[in-house]
Amino acid sequence: MRPMLELRHIVKHWQAPGAEPRVLLDGLDLQVKSGDAVAILGPSGSGKSTLLKIIAGLEAADSGQVFCAGQDISTMPAHLRRFALMFQDFALFPHLSVQDNVAFGLVEQGQSRGQARAQALAMLQRFGMAAHALGRVWQLSGGEQQRVALARALITRPRVLLLDEPFSALDAQLRTSMRAEFAQHLASAPMAVVWVTHDEAEARAVGARGLELQAGGLQQRW
Ligand SMILES: Nc1ncnc2c1ncn2[C@@H]1O[C@H](COP(=O)(O)OP(=O)(O)O)[C@@H](O)[C@H]1O
Ligand SMILES: [Mg+2]
Repeated sequence: MRPMLELRHIVKHWQAPGAEPRVLLDGLDLQVKSGDAVAILGPSGSGKSTLLKIIAGLEAADSGQVFCAGQDISTMPAHLRRFALMFQDFALFPHLSVQDNVAFGLVEQGQSRGQARAQALAMLQRFGMAAHALGRVWQLSGGEQQRVALARALITRPRVLLLDEPFSALDAQLRTSMRAEFAQHLASAPMAVVWVTHDEAEARAVGARGLELQAGGLQQRW
């Protein structure tokens, strides 16, 4: 079967103002099947976020292709890819209720507000967050905000879920309990997951396969 996500020979340079161009991604290849989660490790500045942005369609590679289920989507706009992203700063909407944050993607897809809210409530129930449905996101703790962010990402049934250091704003103890909880939620959804982190313990807990971004390529760690 074709992998849900495939990167072929992605090249990306970065040039800081006044500096020599530097190769960040140097012919990088990656395949992730639906139902699989890979963890990508690498120190700060190694290009992990750039890689996720290229997969998401938020940034263009200098060369190389991105495929989804066998289709070349390299030039497809981000909003048409049916991918979901979760970044470290949760980027929830402060002016919307918790429930409407989760419902947002469904309304964008054309569902009625009533239907979207009902589905959002069911999703919040799965995450143990139904009691907060009508509250505001800024009333929630950091861990609760991350739960809402994941609920919001999963409700659209993405083909690919991209997580960029989702727990870096949480304290160590909470990170440990949340990664187990998240891994469980992800395992039940049919999508390809790419989880970026610089924390090896987190990577091992969430990724059946661990890859390290090194010198512009991915080396298998486990
Ligand atoms: N749009 C950009 N603005 C500033 N720096 C960038 C940009 N794109 C890439 N870079 C540079 O590329 C390198 C990799 O960045 P990034 O992908 O964020 O790495 P990581 O997520 O692994 O920390 C950094 O050294 C950064 O300075
Ligand atoms: Mg980063």
